[in-house]
Parts: sequence; structure tokens; C-alpha cells
Amino acid sequence: MATVLALETSCDESAAAVLRFDDGRFQVLASCIASQVEEHAQWGGVVPEVASRLHVEALPHLVGKALMEAGQSMACLDAVAATVTPGLAGALMVGSVTGRALAALHALPFFGIHHLEGHLASVHLGECPPRPPYLVLLVSGGHTELIRVGVGGEMQRLGRSHDDAAGEAFDKVARLLGLSYPGGPAIQALAAAGDPGRFSLPKGRVSKPGGGFHPYDFSFSGLKTAMLRLVQSLSEAHECLPLADLAASFEQVVAEVLVERSLLCANDQGLKAVVMVGGVAANRRLRELMGQRGKEQGIEVHTAPLAYCTDNAAMIGAAALQHMASGGGLSSLELGVAARWPLDKVKDLYLDTPPF
Ligand code: KG4
Ligand code: ZN
Repeated sequence: MATVLALETSCDESAAAVLRFDDGRFQVLASCIASQVEEHAQWGGVVPEVASRLHVEALPHLVGKALMEAGQSMACLDAVAATVTPGLAGALMVGSVTGRALAALHALPFFGIHHLEGHLASVHLGECPPRPPYLVLLVSGGHTELIRVGVGGEMQRLGRSHDDAAGEAFDKVARLLGLSYPGGPAIQALAAAGDPGRFSLPKGRVSKPGGGFHPYDFSFSGLKTAMLRLVQSLSEAHECLPLADLAASFEQVVAEVLVERSLLCANDQGLKAVVMVGGVAANRRLRELMGQRGKEQGIEVHTAPLAYCTDNAAMIGAAALQHMASGGGLSSLELGVAARWPLDKVKDLYLDTPPF
């Protein structure tokens, strides 16, 4: 049995959680989040300086709250974990310094966690977690990737977006439609009353240099431009835009692209399960469509619990506990933060001489 305090500050959510891993099962004892969304909404996106300052203000309270809700003190813990990459460097630094200081002060091991590994671990916080091998569709504000997770937990990226991430496309199209940030939930709410078949939109394919297409890759920039042109031409013809139909048609095409390419990749790889994680995995239409098409094709679909799709610290704790259970080493207290770091080099975060 191991209990960990985990911190997440990579973007615009400050979060602290206390998790336990016992007899092969995760137990979230507390998961506290202070969202900065309202502060950033007035600017239409995340302002890095503001994010760092708000993390500094929020984190001490969140740590105290998480420990209190979990009924734990620092003395009961076995480790401290914090996201160290990828993300906004200043924002990451707040969680990383706090985590390392707490670990040093209480003589606990420190684990620096890759944010995407956290998203991948989030599905294990659900009722019936999948068993590898499986294909993960990771869809967030910064990433759209298809990752094969092998029997031993080894990861191989099989597909990616060549431009905007799916969440970024939701955020940009929401701004175009005059909706608030973050765009995903705003588009989903508006789309509920719209006709998803009203407008036909492009499914953005990525060409190979020698001809043909990358079958598992994504491109959302053409879709964004198509939405812009559509809005412009509708504005010229109408007095008021059919916002619900625009939102529903956009949401539908994004869901279709994500589902079609994920299932094609899973089938080609002989994988019988698809896992969805990340903020966009909270999308209702995407969850429904993946569930329905997966069933038709005999592929099991597992989605991270709704509460752990968007950024949170419980998923960071789950990644740390998985790493500890697998007997992996701890991170150096010298480990800093990095705005980017490849997922396939995640082992370097536990080197005695850290990579950053
Ligand atoms: O995973 P996340 O919280 O942060 C990153 O690591 O990026 O994902 C945030 C993204 C935002 O782009 C947001 O618009 C999107 O997830 N999102 C959604 C929904 N909820 C959040 N997109 C579509 N539908 C949703 N319900
Ligand atoms: Zn995230």
C-alpha cells in the first residue's frame, strides 16, 4: 500500500490530490481543483504570467484542503509527485518547486510526472480499467495522439495532429462563434439544440510526401478555416447565425474523425480495446459515437471518468503510483521543468542526473 500527494499546475488548473494504491486498486482520497478559467476567459485564452501567479496563490490552500479531506498528514504519505512537463514553464515551476520542497522537508521521495502519462493513467481511476494491450486516443487542449500501450506498459505513438490539437480547434471555433473559453463545453452545450447534419465540413487528411495519406494522423486547421468561411458567407446572407447548427456540425465532424481514425488504427493493430483520455474525451457526442461504433466493430471502449478527463492532480498521482508499483526509481530533487518532453523519454525523469 502506498499513499501519495500529487500536484498539477501545467496550464490553467491548480490541483492537489491524495491517492492510495492498495491491492492493485486506486483510491482517490481527495481531488481538489481551483480552476483559473474565469480569469483567462476575458482574454480568450490562457495568459502564462497570470497562470503562474494564480498557481502560487492557490496551491498552498489546495494542498491543505486535499490533506484534510483525505484525513492524512504529511507524515502519513509515502511520496510527493508533481507535473514537470509538458506545459507552461512558469506554471509548471510552481507545482514542481512546491512538490520538491515538501518532499525535502518531510524526507519523502519525489516523482516528477509527465502530464501526458497522467492523462494516460486517468482511465485507471474508473470502475473497470482496461488491460493492455490497447490503443489510447489522447485528446486535450495541447495534444491529439494515438498511442499504443503494450502488455508491459510500453508506449508507441502511432498517430498525431500535424497542426491544432482537437481541444485547440474547439477553443478557436468557439471564439469564432462568439462563445466563451474554454470552447469545448460551450460548443457542446450549444450543439445539443443543433442539427449535426446541417453543414458538411472537411475531415482534414494529412498527405504523405510520396502520395496517399497518413491513415492515423489528424489536421484540424482546414476545418477551422472552413468554419471561418462558412460563418463569413452566412453572415453576408443572414441577419443572425444558426449558431446551434454550426456548433453541432463542427462537433459531429470532429467526433467522426477521431472515432474513424482511432478504430481504423485499433483494427489494423489487432487491438481489441480503445481508451479515451484528455479534456476532449469529456465530449458527449464523442463518447456516444465511440461507444456505438466500437460496439459495432467488436472493440471495447474505455473512457476516463468525466471528473478526470480535464486536468486534475488525481491522474498525476495515479501515474506516480503506477511508476512506484513497477519498481521505478525516484526523481532527483534537481529535476526542473520543461515546456516539452517526448513521452517515449519519460524514463529520463528518474535519472540521477536529470535531463532538465
Ligand atoms: O486535458 P485538458 O484539461 O488540458 C490540456 O492538457 O490541454 O483539456 C482542455 C481542452 C480544452 O481545449 C477544452 O476546450 C477541451 O479540453 N474540452 C472539451 C470539453 N471539455 C473540455 N472539448 C469538447 N467537449 C467538452 N465537453
Ligand atoms: Zn491536460
